Amino acid sequence: MDGEQKRAVLLTGAGGGVGRAATQALVERGFRVYATVRESGGEFLEHPDVRTFRLDVTDPASVADAVTHVRADGCTALHGIVNNAGIIVQGPLELVTAQDLRHQFDVNVFGAVAVTQAFLPLLRAGRGRLVNITAATARVAGPFFGPISASKAALQSLSDAQRLELAHWGLPVVVVEPGFIDTTIFTKAAQATAKAKAALTPAERALYEAQLQAVDGALAKSKAASPTIVADAVIRALTARKPKPRYTVGPDTRMLGLLARLPLRTRDRLLAGVMGLNKVPAAQ
Ligand SMILES: NC(=O)c1ccc[n+]([C@@H]2O[C@H](COP(=O)([O-])OP(=O)(O)OC[C@H]3O[C@@H](n4cnc5c(N)ncnc54)[C@H](OP(=O)(O)O)[C@@H]3O)[C@@H](O)[C@H]2O)c1
Repeated sequence: MDGEQKRAVLLTGAGGGVGRAATQALVERGFRVYATVRESGGEFLEHPDVRTFRLDVTDPASVADAVTHVRADGCTALHGIVNNAGIIVQGPLELVTAQDLRHQFDVNVFGAVAVTQAFLPLLRAGRGRLVNITAATARVAGPFFGPISASKAALQSLSDAQRLELAHWGLPVVVVEPGFIDTTIFTKAAQATAKAKAALTPAERALYEAQLQAVDGALAKSKAASPTIVADAVIRALTARKPKPRYTVGPDTRMLGLLARLPLRTRDRLLAGVMGLNKVPAAQ
């Protein structure tokens, strides 16, 4: 197929674990990928069909520049927008700063909306598909994961609304909902958490110390899946004749799906048990 005729996909957060796997899978299937990264520099997949450039989803000028960049490359239509950029803000909600909470939503929610709005004219021209990467934890918010869970729940909800809005033009909106995936997102989140913790007083730090240790211990036993399973779901979302509105991927998502359907008190009891919180002595 001639390079100029290739179907093009715009992907955010392409330098991350899922982003790289998705970029690789897309070029293998003959797509041209506008593989955007938050900061330029660093190594990236060298391939004639991969165009890498900067796009910080929280920076309106950067989003506008990205549209200019794609059009200047001769692209007049997109087959897909994949909102993949994301971060994790975690910690007890009592102690999470307003700034960190806002940043969580700036990247995972408002950033995705800004990118979608900016590239929709090209997507409409290509009769393309919008793919939003959310998370299975959007359906079950675990203790100390309130910010990330809430941001993904917001993106799920926005996707549900936009699916109906864009159906008028026959543009599918697809949510890809991964479980626990082996990427560096958790290392980055842990670094940010350590920084936030250092800014707390000793008394604040002591408040949740035991609960956080219990949850860390429980999570250390979970096994993360390969990002390629998310990339495969992105491919299905972009190539299936009739894409499903939602692809849930990862071995742990079955359990989350079951938990989501339970009465809340039963679910809380189970979650507290699994996380080891029921073994933490009650506060005085
Ligand atoms: N890993 C999991 O278990 C898991 C589970 C459910 C959902 N997800 C979702 O899957 C998506 C991909 O995550 P991942 O696991 O591949 O994590 P990752 O390796 O950290 O990749 C996330 C990417 O998003 C980028 N990013 C962060 N802030 C950005 C901004 N303001 N503008 C543009 N890009 C930005 C990061 O760039 P920098 O590194 O330069 O900051 C990184 O390249 C995310 O939406 C995540 O929430 C992941």
